[in-house]
Amino acid sequence: MSSVLITGANRGIGLALVKEFLKQGNSVIATARQPDKSDELNTLRKTFRNPGFTVIPMDVTSTNSVNQAYTKIAPTISKLDILINNAGINPDSKEEKIEDMDLAHFRISFEVNVVGVARVSRIFLPLVRKSNAPRIINISSGAGSIAMKTDFKLYSYSTSKAALNMLTRALAAELKSDKIIVVALSPGWVRTDMGGDDAEISPEESAKCIFRTVDHLTVNESGQFFGRDGNKDNYNW
Ligand SMILES: NC(=O)c1ccc[n+]([C@@H]2O[C@H](COP(=O)([O-])OP(=O)(O)OC[C@H]3O[C@@H](n4cnc5c(N)ncnc54)[C@H](OP(=O)(O)O)[C@@H]3O)[C@@H](O)[C@H]2O)c1
Repeated sequence: MSSVLITGANRGIGLALVKEFLKQGNSVIATARQPDKSDELNTLRKTFRNPGFTVIPMDVTSTNSVNQAYTKIAPTISKLDILINNAGINPDSKEEKIEDMDLAHFRISFEVNVVGVARVSRIFLPLVRKSNAPRIINISSGAGSIAMKTDFKLYSYSTSKAALNMLTRALAAELKSDKIIVVALSPGWVRTDMGGDDAEISPEESAKCIFRTVDHLTVNESGQFFGRDGNKDNYNW
């Protein structure tokens, strides 16, 4: 049984990951900006009335909020095996030209998708370091692949996910000597508020695949960019 913390766990892929990791018998800390407002999280709380499931408020853009979450969680667990940086935002419309788009989108995207991941990772690092099989999973996107970029869709979102990929490589390099695995993982095109109704797979299908991939990760795979199924051939940096 692993202990897992998931950010942005109140809806979409984050919520599906919570359900999948619980189903597989893990101890899950679900974090969200306003967890009480999520009917699904509230229902899950009633179903899993055990110490293996905790729901904690956490806004990844606020150091105060992440510190408060850490202070609540740290005394209750001996180690954190898996940190899933899932919370993400896409403020862009699909094909907005550089002259038309609101430049503030870059700031918002980077604050959540890049700085948020750095913030949560470093604050929770002391607990991750205590694990015997520590993993940090950054939920990235095919949109963040520089090699595959041939359009101008999603300026700020794709730029922030490319930056997240670089953050993943750097963190993997720094934490290599601690044997902490750090990977970027694309969930696929998923039917969520962000992915839309036309997307290829359900959040549950994506979460199932991500669980299997995370479960089988090895130290040698740290610093890689994977698809949800663990295939790195489809995801060039
Ligand atoms: N869906 C896709 O097709 C797709 C494809 C590639 C990558 N991804 C990535 O997968 C991850 C999950 O996406 P999704 O499709 O599940 O999106 P979603 O349905 O829009 O959910 C986004 C989640 O992130 C949370 N979040 C946003 N800002 C936050 C903040 N400041 N602090 C804490 N949580 C915050 C949201 O919480 P609130 O409810 O409070 O806003 C929500 O729980 C994201 O990183 C996304 O970039 C998705």
